Amino acid sequence: MLNRRMLLGAGMAALSGLRAEGAAPGLRAIAAARGVLFGTAAGSYQLRDGDFQTALTREAAILVPEYEQVREAIEPDPGRFDFAGADLLTSFAGRSGMAMHGHTLVWYAANPKWLDEKVAHAPDDEIFTYYITKVMQHYAGAYRSWDVVNEAIWLQDGRADGLRTSQWLKRFGPGYIDTAFHAAKQADHKALLVYSDWGCEGGEAWNDVFRAKTLQLLEGLKARGVPVEALGLQGHLNGFGPPVDQAKLRAFLDRVKALGLKILVTELDVDDTKAPREIAARDQAVADATARFLDVVMDNPATVAVLTWGLTDRYLPKPAWLKGLPGYVPRKLPLDTDLKRKPMWNAIARAFGRR
Ligand code: G3I
Repeated sequence: MLNRRMLLGAGMAALSGLRAEGAAPGLRAIAAARGVLFGTAAGSYQLRDGDFQTALTREAAILVPEYEQVREAIEPDPGRFDFAGADLLTSFAGRSGMAMHGHTLVWYAANPKWLDEKVAHAPDDEIFTYYITKVMQHYAGAYRSWDVVNEAIWLQDGRADGLRTSQWLKRFGPGYIDTAFHAAKQADHKALLVYSDWGCEGGEAWNDVFRAKTLQLLEGLKARGVPVEALGLQGHLNGFGPPVDQAKLRAFLDRVKALGLKILVTELDVDDTKAPREIAARDQAVADATARFLDVVMDNPATVAVLTWGLTDRYLPKPAWLKGLPGYVPRKLPLDTDLKRKPMWNAIARAFGRR
């Protein structure tokens, strides 16, 4: 497993190499000099865009399939596996010296219709552990980390443990999370196994409860010897809602580290739909929200990777309700639609450079 010191060495080499060529270092090199991996989510279709490929290779040291590894994409029909999209991204990463992060093996969402019908009665090794094993063995040894279980907490379901009454919990009970991580570890002992969720970042009262339930889940897993090895903090920030409470986030991440877990930011982006229309003001607010969050994350030595949920605004879907606004595109990612660096890019670079 990679650790910060190994990454540091690689980063210094990358930085000096880039300086020698006169190229401005990308986030890939800046993060590596801090001993951290920076990367992003992508779709295989985006690789048809040569300019995007160049930007991606400059900026990212780790890649995660945005959609092509969710179950509805991988197993659209029972027993019919389609790895094509994720394989394209995986081989591109391999050729570009990038690591891969897998997303995601067990989620309440993005499941094929046939599964939702079967999950209530089919035996576990037909719908659950066999799938985890099959997918992870397909990529065994090539993936640095995996979102094994995604978004298992949902306070609105009112359970004392805060867990979502998903089809998995209804079928197997709360132990489905334990089972998933054990199956994942058995399938690929090298990959870092991540529990990923959103809701731990914010500064509202419900975020306090979300953080408490997340810690309760992680402490229980660790106490039972479940091989959960990292927390995936998704990092879907709201650039114009209640700001991140840095003190609460810091204390939470200290507790995560004290459990012996690594920390990854797995899906960083900043919602700017409530932003002023003026682009400079929007971009600055997005950058400020990014800095406020990453400054705390990067202070924690357990942080090993930061991935944004896309590198450029170029491929962002326009929210349907905004279609009427001519020329409006979301500006929630580090590069704009022309692949130019934005204040958010600077905020990420600064967070990696801060000591
Ligand atoms: O590729 C198909 C296309 O062939 C088809 O014509 C079209 C219309 O049905 O659908 C396309 O697939 C869409 C896919 O994104 C690729 O664009 C799916 O319908 C759509 O549901 C899917 O949405 C993804 C969503 O997760 C559900 O998987 C989003 O791109 C992705 O950004 C979003 O990401 C999630 C993380 O996985 C978990 N954390 C929250 C995050 C944001 O919601």
